[in-house]
Amino acid sequence: MPLLSYKVKIIIMNDKIDTEKNKMWGGRFSAGASAVMDAINVSIDVDKKLYAQDIQTSLAHCAMLAETGIITDEDAAQMCAGLNEISAEIASGEFTFSRQLEDIHMNIEQALTQKIGASAGRLHTARSRNDQVATDFRLYIRDAIDELQQNYQTLLKVILVRAEQHTESVMAGFTHLQTAQPVTLGHHLMAYFEMFARDSERFADCRKRVNHSPLGAAALAGTSFPIDRQMVAQTLGFDGVMKNSLDAVSARDFVMEFLGVAVIAATHFSRLAEEFVLWSSVQFGYCRIDDSFTSGSSIMPQKKNPDAAELVRAKSGRILGDFITLAHVMKALPLAYSKDMQEDKPPLFDAYDALVLMQKAMIGMLEGMVFYPEKMLQDLQKGFPEATDFADWLVQKLNIPFRDAHHITGEAVALAEKKQCRLIDLSLSELQTFHSDISDDVYAVLDVKRAVETRTSFGGTAPARVREAIKQAKASLS
Ligand code: ARG
Repeated sequence: MPLLSYKVKIIIMNDKIDTEKNKMWGGRFSAGASAVMDAINVSIDVDKKLYAQDIQTSLAHCAMLAETGIITDEDAAQMCAGLNEISAEIASGEFTFSRQLEDIHMNIEQALTQKIGASAGRLHTARSRNDQVATDFRLYIRDAIDELQQNYQTLLKVILVRAEQHTESVMAGFTHLQTAQPVTLGHHLMAYFEMFARDSERFADCRKRVNHSPLGAAALAGTSFPIDRQMVAQTLGFDGVMKNSLDAVSARDFVMEFLGVAVIAATHFSRLAEEFVLWSSVQFGYCRIDDSFTSGSSIMPQKKNPDAAELVRAKSGRILGDFITLAHVMKALPLAYSKDMQEDKPPLFDAYDALVLMQKAMIGMLEGMVFYPEKMLQDLQKGFPEATDFADWLVQKLNIPFRDAHHITGEAVALAEKKQCRLIDLSLSELQTFHSDISDDVYAVLDVKRAVETRTSFGGTAPARVREAIKQAKASLS
């Protein structure tokens, strides 16, 4: 106990109380905030990223206030000019943000006051920072989704190009990371096309729910001013207005949904990244990652490390952490706004930046990657990938029940393994020791290229099917 009270005292002694009261709401207060309060409360370092959206929102609000007669046209014109100047100053780096002014909204309002005087105070009529920040953030996430979608288009196109070059490159399809059946590299890459295309679809769906305007909900209950919420929503390119003012200021499911979609998307990136890490190793030797996406070792001269792929792999953990952070912030928060919700921005910004980097790194790696189909084929043949075809042939040609066929094939594999050869290298008389009716037309199905060509079922790995899938995918993109 004594130790605890000692610590508390030290903190309080070091925490100077500001004698100057807050300009925005100081009327009700007898002193300013303590330094610790400032430190915990300030968000400008994070939310200055929202400056463009904040000004956009203010311009739309200002135009509406004038249109509805709540403020005069002269005031509105001054505000608009001032806001545009501030926007230019921030963009060019001339603007000095003040931590005393807490957040982006108050920094901009204060700057406007300095430019146009007291009438700047009318901009906040019928508005609260609660609906303002929700609106800014929705605009930001909308733009974020649009950027991610552009990158997805590029990524998907690159995959199509690479897949098309390898519709005939036969490699092992794995289960349990053990050679299972032959597939083509093109087919393998197209599996990622499907995953990334679904992620892109999920972002598009998320955007629909992001794109509704909270502005006009004011602090939480709406306002008695004769505002026009639809007008503001339209100006800002929203699809509509949020129907409940409490929900409008309290909802952060749009952020969580973005993060949730990002988590799924990130797992897909991490899976492909993991394959690149494996494939580029000496042990696999299936691909070479371009030097521009690798690094050397400070001690081992022979090393070329797949850092970009590893970091893509790792960032998926980080994005999951961002989702969990926000889910925990939001859990059990009573309506309506609580300051907890200011903590929504760091995880979103973090996840968004990470995901963009993941996309770009993946695009770059895919573009520059050299594949080695000969090595893929060579490894494939060590793993008896033709075993299923052999068993299927026994069923189809000799009418043997599949269970027995499976057993016979197992015996043949054991012999080949012992002799360190492929099934196709066993002589007919050797094969006939497992079943006397085996004839030499079995050799046709023991060829892995042929095995791939016959997998023509819809969605299968046959080159003809994969080419068809690529063609359809191309059409879906353009
Ligand atoms: N900086 C705040 C945030 O990001 C803005 C909203 C503040 N609202 C309030 N009632 N104090 O959430």
